[in-house]
Amino acid sequence: MQRAGTVVVLAAGQGTRMRSSGAKVLHPLCGRPMLGYVLDPVRALDPERILVVVGHGADEVRRWIESAAKDARIACVPQPEQKGTGHALQACIPELERSSGPVIVLYGDMPCLEVATLLALRAALAGCAAALVTARPARLRGFGRIRRDGSGALRGIVEEKDASPEERAIREVNVGVYAFEKQALLERLPRLSNRNAQGEYYLTDVVDLLLEDKKRVATVALEDEREVIGINTLEHLSEARAVLQERILLHHLGNGVYIEDPCTTYVDHGVEIGAGTRILPCSVIRAGVVIGKACEVGPFTHLRSGTHLEDGAEIGNFTETKQARIGKGTKAKHLSYLGDVTIGAQANIGAGTIVANYDGRAKHHTDVGDRAFVGSGSVLIAPCRVGDGALTGAGAVVTRRTEIPPGEAWVGIPAKPLRRGPKAKDGP
Ligand code: UD1
Ligand code: CA
Repeated sequence: MQRAGTVVVLAAGQGTRMRSSGAKVLHPLCGRPMLGYVLDPVRALDPERILVVVGHGADEVRRWIESAAKDARIACVPQPEQKGTGHALQACIPELERSSGPVIVLYGDMPCLEVATLLALRAALAGCAAALVTARPARLRGFGRIRRDGSGALRGIVEEKDASPEERAIREVNVGVYAFEKQALLERLPRLSNRNAQGEYYLTDVVDLLLEDKKRVATVALEDEREVIGINTLEHLSEARAVLQERILLHHLGNGVYIEDPCTTYVDHGVEIGAGTRILPCSVIRAGVVIGKACEVGPFTHLRSGTHLEDGAEIGNFTETKQARIGKGTKAKHLSYLGDVTIGAQANIGAGTIVANYDGRAKHHTDVGDRAFVGSGSVLIAPCRVGDGALTGAGAVVTRRTEIPPGEAWVGIPAKPLRRGPKAKDGP
């Protein structure tokens, strides 16, 4: 099998059809930019170089690559004006001249593509000048159509906007993933013209030029049409999100995490969940959350970034957490907001507890100790501390900078130590 050589990801387009500003490839899907999903299978191919063609939002894309997808093999190639996919690849000519091995080209707006498809494509290139992936999806999505002659031999690719009514009726489409023998590509790339309906330099015309020269071009048929979702509109974005979400949930189910209702469970990319944990319906678990073993989440729970549930913790109905460390076996089962908080082990957070972490200017931290019992409806105004084994009465308001010593019971508004004994009849 040939080595991957260079992979080029075209990501300079604006995504006009998304009707939103910024780089299309940075639109988030399950808590991660689209481009992250495109780069996963690319990296799995182990190429020598990865070129990402950037244009719209180039600075943002570069910054994201440098922070989240840092990889010495990745280089960004600028395409300041976007004149088509062929024009985008032309921007890579100097880099490609220096490279060796085949050139794989794909589009940055196809986040559902899997590595198996790229491997099949690379294998199909053997003995050919190019290979490309085709599919027969139920919805044609405006994709380029694959032209074949009566014997089934490939004749070229025609864009939907340039197609005749007969060509539009073709059900086989160009997925937009190609492998080229480097020299065959470099000889033809400078010869593209923009005489077409969109006035663009089409990468697909390289395939037509190769066929005119009687070069062999292989096709690889893609069976699973969910891989083919190219994102041109927000509707496509939400479709791709569903596909990626299903893959994430299957991954967790395979790891021994019970997800009762995958249809109403939203788990972002990169969330860690230990075996034996149960996720109940209508729960939303955002990127960066870590959940231990044998925890219970939901139903109707929102775990936001920075949440870490230690083993056996239980977070239930209508409870939202953010930047929250929840200790082993601790329970917060109903109607709570727990933000910027560290809670120890075996604590009980009563229904309706609110950690008031924001004073209008800044966020502050709250600590709750091991085995603490926070009574229903308590408000903990940050910064404050509830000591180990301490208790707050129902409806207590623990004001800022209060530290409830270990083992004490505090009640009332503002919460004060509960004096036990004969005088306690009238309350604190
Ligand atoms: C393209 C293909 C079409 C295929 C479809 C599959 C061409 C001419 N057409 O059409 O046959 O069925 O993808 O998804 O290639 N880009 C740049 N610079 C540019 C233009 C585009 O980097 O100047 C990037 C975009 O960011 C995008 C990708 O190339 O990620 C594809 O461009 P797009 O305009 O979406 O092409 P399609 O019309 O979808
Ligand atoms: Ca597209």
